[in-house]
Amino acid sequence: TTSQVSLASLELGAYSHFMQKEIYEQPKAVSDTAEIFLDAGFIAENFGENAEAVFNDIDSIKILACGTSYYAASTAKYWLESIAKIATDVEIASEYRYREVIANPKQLIITISQSGETLDTMEALKYAQAMGHKHSLSICNVMESALPRASELVVYTRAGAEIGVASTKAFTTQLVALFGLAVTLGRVRGYVDDTKLVEYTNALRSLPNDIQYALNLEPQISSWSSKFADKPSALFLGRGIHYPIALEGALKLKEITYIHAEAYPAGELKHGPLALVDENMPVVVIAPNDSLLDKVKANMQEVSARGGELFVFTDLDSDFSDSEGVHVIRTPRHIGVLSPIVHTIPVQLLSYHVALAKGTDVDKPRNLAKSVTVE
Ligand code: G6P
Repeated sequence: TTSQVSLASLELGAYSHFMQKEIYEQPKAVSDTAEIFLDAGFIAENFGENAEAVFNDIDSIKILACGTSYYAASTAKYWLESIAKIATDVEIASEYRYREVIANPKQLIITISQSGETLDTMEALKYAQAMGHKHSLSICNVMESALPRASELVVYTRAGAEIGVASTKAFTTQLVALFGLAVTLGRVRGYVDDTKLVEYTNALRSLPNDIQYALNLEPQISSWSSKFADKPSALFLGRGIHYPIALEGALKLKEITYIHAEAYPAGELKHGPLALVDENMPVVVIAPNDSLLDKVKANMQEVSARGGELFVFTDLDSDFSDSEGVHVIRTPRHIGVLSPIVHTIPVQLLSYHVALAKGTDVDKPRNLAKSVTVE
C-alpha cells in the first residue's frame, strides 16, 4: 500500500536499498551487541540465569543453523576450539533433523537464527531434544521468537530489524555473540587468563572502528563490479577461519546477483576447481595477514599461472601488491582474532555493487524469502 511504501522510503533515509543501509549499520549493530560483554564482562549470566551450571556440565558443542547463520556457526567453530578448547561440530539443520544422531546429554546444542522462526532449525532443535540432548542455547535477533522460547539459554544479537533478504548485519552480530560465547566458555573452563581477557576485550572495543575502515573502501570495491557483472561464475577462496567468510561471500553473490559462485578452501583448489579457472572466472581471495598468508599466496600463484584474474582482499600490513592480473584491496592492519568479521564487509559490498551493475532486485532477490517457515 501507499503508506507502506512511504514508510519504507522514510526508513531508508539517504540509502538506496535496505541491504546498503544494513551494511552501513554494522559498526553500530556490532558495538551494541559487543556491549553485552563489554558492560557485564564475559560472564555466563549473559546467556541466562542457569548458564554457569550448564557451561560446567558440557563436554562438547553442536551448532545447527541454515544459510548465512550456518556460516556464522562455521566461523565460530574455530573460536570455540581455539579459545575455549571445546570440541565443536557444525551442521546444516535440514540435514541433522533427518539422520540418526548419536545423542550426548553433555553436548550443548546451539541454534543460530536471525529470525528465530526458520522451520528446519526449529525442527532440528526439537529432534535433538527428543533424542536426549538436555542443554540448548539460542543465538537469535528476534525477541521471544520460536527458537529462544524452545531453548534453555539465549543471547540476543542487537542488530535491529533486518529487512534485506540477504543477511548482513545479522551475520556480523551473530559472530560477535559467538565470540563472546567462546571467551566466556574459555573463562569458565580456565583457558582464558587475564592477559588474554584484556586482549579479547580490546579487540572487541576496536571492532566498530575496524569495520568502519572497511566500509570506507566502498569506492575501490565498486570499481571492481564491472569485472564481475558480465561473468557467468566466480570462485571465492579462503583458508582457516576465513574459509567460512569465502563461503558467505559466494552466497551473497549468488543471492543478489544470480551469478554462480562457489567457495573453496584455497588448499583444495588443486583437487578440482583449478580446472575451472580461466580468464572468464574471476577469483576472489580472502587473504588476511595471518599465519596462513604464505600458503594463500602459493594458491594465488596457481590461479595466476592458469590465466585467472585475482581479486584479493588483504590487510594493510601484508607484503604484496597489484600486479598483472592481480587486484588488491586492503582492509586495516591485521586485527587478529576478530579478522573474519572485518573481512566480511568487503564481500558484502562487492555483491551489492555487482547487483547494482546488473540491475537485480537487491532487497528482494527472486525465489528467496527472508524467513523460511516451511520445509
Ligand atoms: C533465509 C534467508 C537467509 C538466512 C536463512 C536462515 O534463507 O534468506 O538470509 O540466512 O534463511 O535464516 P535465519 O533467520 O534462521 O537466520
